[in-house]
Amino acid sequence: MRMYDIIKKKRDGGELSTEEIKYFIGGVTDGSIPDYQISALCMAIYFRGMTVRETCDLTFAVRDSGERLDFSAIGGIRADKHSTGGVGDKTSLVVAPIVASLGVKVAKMSGRGLGHTGGTVDKLEAIEGFRTTLSEEEFIKQVNDVGLSIVGQSRQFAPADKKLYALRDVTATVDSMPLIAASIMGKKLAADDDCIVLDVKTGSGSFMKTVEKSRELARLMVDIGKNAGKKMVALITNMDRPLGNAIGNSLEVIEAVETLNGRGPEDLTEVCLTLAGYMLSLAGKGTPAKCIALAKEAILDGSALKKLMETVAAQGGDANLIADPAKFQRAKFSYAVRSTERGYICAVDTEAYGLASLALGAGRNTAEDAIDYSAGIILRKKTGDRVEQGEEIATLYANDEALFPAAAKKLLAATVVKDEVPEEEPLIYDVVE
Ligand code: URA
Repeated sequence: MRMYDIIKKKRDGGELSTEEIKYFIGGVTDGSIPDYQISALCMAIYFRGMTVRETCDLTFAVRDSGERLDFSAIGGIRADKHSTGGVGDKTSLVVAPIVASLGVKVAKMSGRGLGHTGGTVDKLEAIEGFRTTLSEEEFIKQVNDVGLSIVGQSRQFAPADKKLYALRDVTATVDSMPLIAASIMGKKLAADDDCIVLDVKTGSGSFMKTVEKSRELARLMVDIGKNAGKKMVALITNMDRPLGNAIGNSLEVIEAVETLNGRGPEDLTEVCLTLAGYMLSLAGKGTPAKCIALAKEAILDGSALKKLMETVAAQGGDANLIADPAKFQRAKFSYAVRSTERGYICAVDTEAYGLASLALGAGRNTAEDAIDYSAGIILRKKTGDRVEQGEEIATLYANDEALFPAAAKKLLAATVVKDEVPEEEPLIYDVVE
């Protein structure tokens, strides 16, 4: 078999056989296929797509490219969630402690930022001392003792996805339905969870820009998971605006803690409670409505926040930062972005907001870039809000003042202000079961 022929076949719209897909992923994993051929096939898949059968084969090949985790030593039902990626999406930091505080085990493996989107591992590393790498024994022990652990993917876990993820990030091939489905479900199936809730984002800040495409991706991933014996649900949630008001790593951890204190932004709180409710429901705790009420209670009585503190302490992080987020190191400089028009914010390009945060140092342009954890954006106005000319719509934070003008320009260009009040969009579009 030759990689050249596989690329040509997909380029010309052909359907790859199971053997060809296994050959490709085998070569990605053992390093025998060079990056330029991997990237070329990703681009061909981007343009030509894949059938459901090809996508399933790709998912299973990614799953089998490394070690499969065995969680049988974890007592109790295990539930996980995974987001397709968004801007200001700090839901894992809120949802996982809620669910764990209600007795469902959460053994969570998370990713880093990808493209314009943030990643849970980067956010957790904003907490001083927090170890995102644990041995399998440490990970399992913590899940048994505390009920929750969140780590990055180890080198042995779905290594083909690690390679593909990094190459897709720099070759404009992230937003491809089969590549996203295989990436997410390949990892989810290599882990050993009973229940999985997917948060499929839709809109300008997500990789799927329309509700129809997001619904198609959700259906595909739910079916792949169910065929592999998992209990699955996908929520389709709005990413036409950032979730919450904070974008950037430590700013997002602070907002997640506020949400666990019951003082979070409404949109973030609602999405988190719904995700937690469906995780608990899949895990057998009752109907989604009953489980959403349980999740609310876990915030009100402080048990979810306590669970996050226990988790942070168990992973070597400074739990004082969670008890008092004012102690997080702040960026040296801030800058107010002011509206040049008056009216209502009708729409925002959420991807551009994510890129503005990246430009302030909150994300990476290359895999080697270091992150500035304190950099980012706090939104003072969101879609639907009235603004006056000269009114502050966002505050930028950075440790280098020279970064402000370009980020401010990007943010203003991405904010549409008009005379009329925009139509309200749903926060949760659909539940795919
Ligand atoms: N999250 C993933 O894990 N993979 C993707 O391809 C996109 C989002």
